[in-house]
Amino acid sequence: MRPFLLLGFLLSNITATAAIEPISTSIAVGMAAALTGFLATYQNVFYYFHECCRPEWISFNRTGLEVALDRKLFGQHVASRVVQKAVTGFMNNKNPKKPLVLSLHGWTGTGKNLVSQLIAENIYKEGMASSFVHQFVSTAHFPHLNQIEDYKSQLQQWIKGNVTNCPRSMFIFDEMDKMHPGLIDCIKPYLDYYEHLDGVSYRQAIFIFLSNAGGEHITQVALDFWKAGRDREEMKLLDLEPALSLSVFNNKQSGLWHTSLIDKNLVDFFVPFLPLEYRHVLLCGMAEMSAKGLKPDQDVVDQMARDLVYFPKSEKIFSGKGCKTIGGKLDYYT
Ligand SMILES: *[C@@H]1O[C@H](CO)[C@@H](O)[C@H](O)[C@H]1NC(C)=O
Ligand SMILES: *[C@@H]1O[C@H](CO)[C@@H](O)[C@H](O)[C@H]1NC(C)=O
Repeated sequence: MRPFLLLGFLLSNITATAAIEPISTSIAVGMAAALTGFLATYQNVFYYFHECCRPEWISFNRTGLEVALDRKLFGQHVASRVVQKAVTGFMNNKNPKKPLVLSLHGWTGTGKNLVSQLIAENIYKEGMASSFVHQFVSTAHFPHLNQIEDYKSQLQQWIKGNVTNCPRSMFIFDEMDKMHPGLIDCIKPYLDYYEHLDGVSYRQAIFIFLSNAGGEHITQVALDFWKAGRDREEMKLLDLEPALSLSVFNNKQSGLWHTSLIDKNLVDFFVPFLPLEYRHVLLCGMAEMSAKGLKPDQDVVDQMARDLVYFPKSEKIFSGKGCKTIGGKLDYYT
């Protein structure tokens, strides 16, 4: 508030000076110019310290995303490529016809949350803490079936309100497969190709859905590859897509939301996350140790990784919980 008081004071002084001494109008003009300069500076200073819906706070760092995916996401060559392409294409498009909608699929601990975080960090200066990034976890935010009508209107208001404030808003929906179909229905209009919806355009927004749906089928494809002696890195999106859509339509629990979203082509990219192998858990462990400021110790990480549970029972190839919980486990081993 104080700068405004100061401005008011300056303004009244200028007027007074100009009225008493017409000769000094040039001085007043000079002061007014200075004032305008001050105003602009004040505004810039304000924008500098306070997160705003402006390029200073929201700008895509393509290299940043590439480097982050490369350094922090392990064993997900397909997801990494799809995400990089999808986000880069969307952010470079001045006139997208619809918001970007990504659907990330795979077992827990395979990196879905990490990827949403990396996307947020390379678009918003404040990353996940940005006031333009909104995360909803089905079981935490919408737990009660009998309140579904309230949730619906609340969620619609939130999306509308936030996109009105800042068109480049990001919404992350975790545990999408546990979300009530009615809630999914109520967000569908925002994902669509409308130019405006009640005067608001949603075309700059980003929606990310996370779910375990399709995890089993993705794992089966990975297992088949392994059994055939083929290199995991040979796996292409094309190899995984059928498994994903099949599982999507066959699985009663997750079928509902998928069917309605797929039917209308509202999801731009389905991103499969592969089950992680022992070697990937090692990489996660080493990265986790550095992140904690510890010296990465192969022996410690190795021991931790060995004690995890792997599946299928006979082959023991994939980590049951991926890289989840290793942060806490490492504390125990160090
Ligand atoms: C983008 O990311 C790269 C790699 O992390 C970093 O070196 C660079 O400073 C970032 N650029 C901006 C403008 O933040
Ligand atoms: C934006 O979304 C948040 C939830 O993430 C909500 O609390 C807030 O009220 C919304 N803002 C508006 C203006 O609707």
